Amino acid sequence: MATTTQKKVKETVKKDYDPSEIKVRRVNFQFSDKNKRFYYKDNPFSTHFINVLHILFPTGERFFVNSVLKHQKEIKDEKLKKQVRNFCGQEGIHSSMHERFWNILKAKGYNFEGYENHIDKLLHKVVAKIEVEGTKINNIDLVATACLEHFTALFGHAIFEHVDTNPKYVPEDMAELFKWHASEEIEHKNVAYDVMQLVDEDEYAKRIAFMPLATVILYFYLTVGTLMLMYQDRKYIKVSRLPKQFYQFATGLFSELHRDLVSEYFSFFKKDFHPSNLNDYHLAEEFFKDKAYA
Ligand SMILES: [Fe+2]
Ligand SMILES: [Fe+2]
Repeated sequence: MATTTQKKVKETVKKDYDPSEIKVRRVNFQFSDKNKRFYYKDNPFSTHFINVLHILFPTGERFFVNSVLKHQKEIKDEKLKKQVRNFCGQEGIHSSMHERFWNILKAKGYNFEGYENHIDKLLHKVVAKIEVEGTKINNIDLVATACLEHFTALFGHAIFEHVDTNPKYVPEDMAELFKWHASEEIEHKNVAYDVMQLVDEDEYAKRIAFMPLATVILYFYLTVGTLMLMYQDRKYIKVSRLPKQFYQFATGLFSELHRDLVSEYFSFFKKDFHPSNLNDYHLAEEFFKDKAYA
């Protein structure tokens, strides 16, 4: 008689994906130090544009978290309270993962301490403190966060829809990091915006006034950071190749990131704008579908 082996089949019941849950995923990415210096398609402009994002995210996301947490006590709705907690959890892990990549940048000889300190002071010592008592000049940090979260959500959208992450040209560790981050930016894109709408009755005037300024400041520092790293790389760069490399960056990564952003950017200026109007949560769901850490 054949032995009957009882197999215990562990059934994993996966809950339906619910973007409003804003799950904190405790990832632990490791980065290879074997990637090429110009790891994004051998292009110094594209690579350093990405490196600047690695540098800006940790301080930027700490600023986002602080600006939302300031209003914790004003939030009575249990769902939004939970979303705020998990938004902070997600942003905290994003910061730590991007900061981990700094070791690779430092080992390659880049010096960005002064640049990062400057941004850190600008956000935490200047923007976070703007408030004139007895006037409506307040909550500027929260408004700035809602504006910048519009960018991170749209960059996230573009990473799935347009940016070329073909493993033939882009290291897998970088693609994985940015896709994970992109998915969570899509998931939590409503949080800072909802808190702003809840706590500030003048939020519409403030967000349409501040968005152009936030845009100029963001692109100014992205440009300065990219040029700073390019300059530090001058012995690895051939000046004669720069025009072609710039053209490839402008028509490649940069335009891919901005393809939908241009039209979606202006929707932010409508009074009835809400981040969830762009229903792209399926992009995050699709990405997390087969991830062990999801
Ligand atoms: Fe983030
Ligand atoms: Fe975010």
